[in-house]
Amino acid sequence: MSSWLKVVLIAGCCTAAGSAVADGTRYGYGSTPTQAEIKAWDIDVGPDGKGLPVGQGTATQGEEPYLQYCSACHGEFGEGVGRYPALIGGEDSLDQDRPKKTVGSFWPYATTLWDYINRSMPFGNAQSLEPDQVYAIVAYILNMNDLIEPDTVMDQNSLPRVKMPNRNGFIPDPRPDVHNKACMKNCKDKVEITSQANKLP
Ligand code: HEC
Repeated sequence: MSSWLKVVLIAGCCTAAGSAVADGTRYGYGSTPTQAEIKAWDIDVGPDGKGLPVGQGTATQGEEPYLQYCSACHGEFGEGVGRYPALIGGEDSLDQDRPKKTVGSFWPYATTLWDYINRSMPFGNAQSLEPDQVYAIVAYILNMNDLIEPDTVMDQNSLPRVKMPNRNGFIPDPRPDVHNKACMKNCKDKVEITSQANKLP
């Protein structure tokens, strides 16, 4: 379970339930989650691979399920169909006016790909894939991005070790306004924009 979720849960426990106990009321709804419910909900995978289940797959094994479950929207080669997102390309575009952010060019961790696909894809039929299928499809997408070989086995140990091209591309935001505390009194009346994250056309 991610640490922010724990914070939310702890905060929830001590405000809502705490005050209900304090004034002796019961709200009359909700139930204690079962272990199975908690397990089904606790599926996050961290950048370091924490949370990855046992399983494995290669790009060669991932081709068939990718073509079956993903290519209608993301294209046979990950190029994206219509307005659905492309899963390849965009290398060397991140410092351009119109960066092409894809899994290959932008995402810093391969493990996030596993988490995202396992949690939300195929679109409209989320969480229908088995762990081995997710490993294989992730491997297929990494291979389409030339990051691993067709027969490189992706599992709990090897996936976190895949070095994504933009792994070190995330730097602290230098714009002063993201560091300043909100001004509540005697503030400047004129605001000057000194830089932009993206130049709009
Ligand atoms: C019916 C169309 C559809 C299908 C089928 C589908 N996806 Fe998606 N996919 C989407 C849409 C729409 C988004 C964008 C969702 C969003 O931004 O909230 C997306 C986003 C993604 C992303 C994130 C892209 C990015 O750079 O942000 C990945 C990775 C992905 N899909 C993988 C898959 C995989 C793997 C499969 C097959 C198991 C799959 N998708 C099947 C529609 C689809």
